[in-house]
Amino acid sequence: MTTDNATAVPAVSARDTPPATSLALDHLSWSVGGAVIVDDITMHVTEGEFVALIGPNGAGKTSLFNLVSGLTRPTAGTVTLSGVDITRHAPHKRARLGMGRTFQTSSVFADLTVGANVGLAVQARTGESRRFWKRAGADGGPETAAALELVRLSHRADAMAGDLSHGDKRKLELALLLARRPRLILLDEPMAGVGAGEIGELTTVIRDVHREQGCTVLMVEHHMEVLLDMADRLAVMHHGALLAFTDPDSAMADPAVQAAYLGDGA
Ligand SMILES: Nc1ncnc2c1ncn2[C@@H]1O[C@H](COP(=O)(O)OP(=O)(O)OP(=O)(O)O)[C@@H](O)[C@H]1O
Ligand SMILES: [Mg+2]
Repeated sequence: MTTDNATAVPAVSARDTPPATSLALDHLSWSVGGAVIVDDITMHVTEGEFVALIGPNGAGKTSLFNLVSGLTRPTAGTVTLSGVDITRHAPHKRARLGMGRTFQTSSVFADLTVGANVGLAVQARTGESRRFWKRAGADGGPETAAALELVRLSHRADAMAGDLSHGDKRKLELALLLARRPRLILLDEPMAGVGAGEIGELTTVIRDVHREQGCTVLMVEHHMEVLLDMADRLAVMHHGALLAFTDPDSAMADPAVQAAYLGDGA
């Protein structure tokens, strides 16, 4: 609400404050066996932004994710997370600083219920004692319930995780990630292997997670129809380099982007 008092304060308004940078990649490169796979990428992602990383097969998207999450080390350049240079940090250290990468199916215990899986992930973060865990019960408490609700899996809380459909497994993996309260999440082709009938709801869940948690999202996806209405910006890679990093309409209208897709038949 605007008041006379408010105008009298020589305050810096929200509009004057530049948005904080969540993830900054500066001149990031990765070469292997003499081949340049990631080529001098500079890209600054704003706090809370949803960025879709696209490009033809083999463009280097997963390789870039590996550099961001710490699975591989760059040949040159830096990775900065919320102002901290993490270029040399191991993946677990990046996770502790708020970076989450999904869809490592190994993190799901197939023989435990959906609720117990999320409950354990919550417990792993909070370090609650076994005693508390018992007291919280098989559903793991209110945080577990909230995470399941957000990913639209409440009705499957008592199902065995191994019995879930591909789409529901992806939702569970998102809930497990949320239990760690990440500030930045990296999603590499979350729709891969998911049936056409489940893509719409999974898209809605990813959008809800982004909106309600306020976290920054960097997502690789080939389903363009999914990306165009959820991404704030598209980052387009081709032959390891960043061709465009702008709003979806401008990116898709860029002749260099169109040529990259046509040229590779992707
Ligand atoms: N460890 C590696 N050693 C050698 N070459 C590699 C290695 N990892 C990736 N590459 C090569 O780097 C290029 C980029 O691969 P990457 O998997 O990053 O592409 P992508 O954009 O994720 O493709 P897709 O859309 O198919 O998932 C490919 O030519 C790939 O063969
Ligand atoms: Mg890939």
